[in-house]
Amino acid sequence: MLRMKMNMRMMMKMMLVLAVAVAVGVEARGGRGRLSNFLNNDSGPSGNSLRKFNTRANPIARDDLDALSGSSEENIGLCASTPSVANLNTSMPIPDSYNSHEAYSKCKPDILQQGSCGSCWAFATTGVLAQRMCIKSEQIGQGYELAPQALVSCTDQICYTKAGDRCSSPSSTCYCSLGCDGGYPDGAFRFMQDEGITPELCVKYVSKDGTDPLECSDVQTMVSECTATSNATVNGDRCYYHSSSDIETIQRDIMQHGPVLASYEVFEDFGEYDSGVYTCPDDGSDSIGWHAVIIVGWGVEDNTPYWLVQNSWGTGFGIDGYFKIARGTNECNIESRLVTSLVNTEGVVFASTSGAAVAKPATAFLAVAVAVAVAAIFSTN
Ligand SMILES: *[C@@H]1O[C@H](CO)[C@@H](O)[C@H](O)[C@H]1NC(C)=O
Ligand SMILES: *[C@@H]1O[C@H](CO)[C@@H](O)[C@H](O)[C@H]1NC(C)=O
Ligand SMILES: *[C@@H]1O[C@H](CO)[C@@H](O)[C@H](O)[C@H]1NC(C)=O
Repeated sequence: MLRMKMNMRMMMKMMLVLAVAVAVGVEARGGRGRLSNFLNNDSGPSGNSLRKFNTRANPIARDDLDALSGSSEENIGLCASTPSVANLNTSMPIPDSYNSHEAYSKCKPDILQQGSCGSCWAFATTGVLAQRMCIKSEQIGQGYELAPQALVSCTDQICYTKAGDRCSSPSSTCYCSLGCDGGYPDGAFRFMQDEGITPELCVKYVSKDGTDPLECSDVQTMVSECTATSNATVNGDRCYYHSSSDIETIQRDIMQHGPVLASYEVFEDFGEYDSGVYTCPDDGSDSIGWHAVIIVGWGVEDNTPYWLVQNSWGTGFGIDGYFKIARGTNECNIESRLVTSLVNTEGVVFASTSGAAVAKPATAFLAVAVAVAVAAIFSTN
């Protein structure tokens, strides 16, 4: 009986880890602090731009969040533990400031809005891959997005053991992303590496209100019915982690391959951010969970080195959708959970020969992205 109880506790702990670990869906606890006050307030100062945390019917107790923050469940461990796979040029000088969105202005993405769905993990992984694809190809430009919804709606397929094998449902050894309830960035990178990911044009984001109206089979249908010229899949080539102690390597990677994904602990005062270099409260207050974002560059402001970070809470947040956070001090643990991926553009031909018309100017360049013998992303076999 006692044994049974222990197992139940462990199971519950595991479920909590699955739900919240690594970066992501965190519930807003009503009425506590300013952040939670306007998480669910469309008329708040930033519109709904801060509604990125999913609310849960059964909020996880703050004590549990504390435990998770210090947990060893930092990531599933599916990616390469060193970035040497990226072949970084160590003689490349590192400037005082850098912004990938300026260096590759053709690849500057739109700032997206995840809404009240805890899908930051899907936005950050697809965002990193799309930007890196753009940088690598130098042929597709602004407006090119990969579909976070395809990850959100197919999370039942984004399940891995620590050994990297696919598995089918959450357990103590099977780590699944959970749609609007959060996910594992490294698991998502690994999934895109295994299966590819489809353009946003094929599978529009529909989970802003925090719910997911789609089944994975709906996504598969959308991909198969998507216009012939736009169902190219993009593959993550190989994902890898960065060490928090190796800032220069992170910088070189951003300069050479493009932005990287970072997860960090969010504190309630972060909701008040609108400019300047953010530092985490050192008053011992608790974080309310982990959030995944995209580091696109760095700089120095008032003698404080910072990372320039792209968020997915709309342009109403921070500095036109970006924020700056202190660099080199592992602020809010933002340097401890960095992960990114090389991009394999093989099979995607960027030719200008296609005469296919597309509906929206912003995605017009998609007419030139023609897939050659690329299987639909979620083949059912
Ligand atoms: C929502 O935000 C508005 C504007 O800041 C504020 O006046 C109102 O009290 C907020 N509502 C809630 C429920 O917090
Ligand atoms: C590495 O960077 C240095 C300095 O920018 C450059 O001169 C050199 O050609 C680069 N090496 C390679 C292999 O790209
Ligand atoms: C798009 O996907 C469908 C379904 O898998 C496939 O039949 C078609 O050939 C694909 N188009 C291109 C251009 O790859």
